[in-house]
Amino acid sequence: MGKIDWELKKFHGDEYSINRGTTYNSYLIREEKNVLREEKNVLIDTVWLPFAGEFVANLQKEIDLKKIDYVVANHAEIDHSGALPELMRFIPDTPIYCTQNALKSLRGHYHQNWNFKPVKTGDKISLGNGKELIFVEMRMLHWPDSMACYLTGDNILFSNDAFGQHYASEYMFNDLVKQDELFSECIKYYANILTPFSKLVDAKIKEVLALQLPIDIIATSHGVIWRQNPTQIVEKYLQWANAYQENQITLVYDTMWEGTRRMAETIAKGIKDVNAAANVKLYNAAKIDKNDIMTEIFKSRIVLFGSPTINKGIATALAGIFEELKGLQFVNKKAAAFGCYGWSGESVGNMNKLITEAGWELINDGIKCFWNPDEESITKCFLYGQEIGRM
Ligand code: FEO
Repeated sequence: MGKIDWELKKFHGDEYSINRGTTYNSYLIREEKNVLREEKNVLIDTVWLPFAGEFVANLQKEIDLKKIDYVVANHAEIDHSGALPELMRFIPDTPIYCTQNALKSLRGHYHQNWNFKPVKTGDKISLGNGKELIFVEMRMLHWPDSMACYLTGDNILFSNDAFGQHYASEYMFNDLVKQDELFSECIKYYANILTPFSKLVDAKIKEVLALQLPIDIIATSHGVIWRQNPTQIVEKYLQWANAYQENQITLVYDTMWEGTRRMAETIAKGIKDVNAAANVKLYNAAKIDKNDIMTEIFKSRIVLFGSPTINKGIATALAGIFEELKGLQFVNKKAAAFGCYGWSGESVGNMNKLITEAGWELINDGIKCFWNPDEESITKCFLYGQEIGRM
């Protein structure tokens, strides 16, 4: 019952770039089969606030709203709960099942005293036809209130944000879309949203797998539904949650008069000269989207940061990158710094400090060039690249 949002360009305010649209997935389970109404109808999640009116109107075409027995709010964030106020105007007494934390968040967002039914892991509701909806708290995956639920009989895990992607598609299912597009959005979503919680991701997945529940479908709240080999995305999450890296070396830099860019390109040549297998990538942080850069850093084993010295500091584009890195807490990364300077030359030292503060291994003191790199400096950068390439 959700909404495909082809127009979206930014999510979480301006914090997450959207390249391929997104979806807000809402699910209606209809078990009701006869006038006695022994079986139940359940609505799981809603859509983002701007689509509330459209969502409720569509829902009314599908079912008499009064026949929705339960609402499940797996997560209180506005992209899933945004249509609740509009919906609850029609069915104010219908119970809303959510975690205790979601109850607080929903009250915080909407200041309404709806008929909340707080649940914990293992709590369940019977839907009739021998089916049950079992709740699983997903604390900090990615909010304190997050929850999933599992429909027995049909073996569907409604995972909410977990295993999702910001990926609009009219095809709806994972096996129908281009796999490279799908997985590039999956890894971007993991790198930019879930990495700070990787330890919890790993523990929660192992907890759920230990229950040995058959899973035929993973119905996420964003992007396509996993129906073909649905646990492939679970296996990916286990990889990503455990100090993930590829054989990639990434250079992230900004430049004022092209000197630091020339340094970056020369260091990259040095790396390739001794390490043809490494996937070497260069990104100008002032020009390339920061979330896409974060995804590339997530995949890397070594990252080199470049900035000229500006007013005894670093370029603001790099400062923004370091602020992101502090929050995302990537692990198992090595790093170093480089940059041009004309006067006092603090940028490399400043970045060394930021690398250490991010909890990364600083692999050397970095390399500086005085003014625009001359031939001697270019040679030094090439040799420096070779040194990095051998690591
Ligand atoms: Fe898709 Fe955490 O909201």
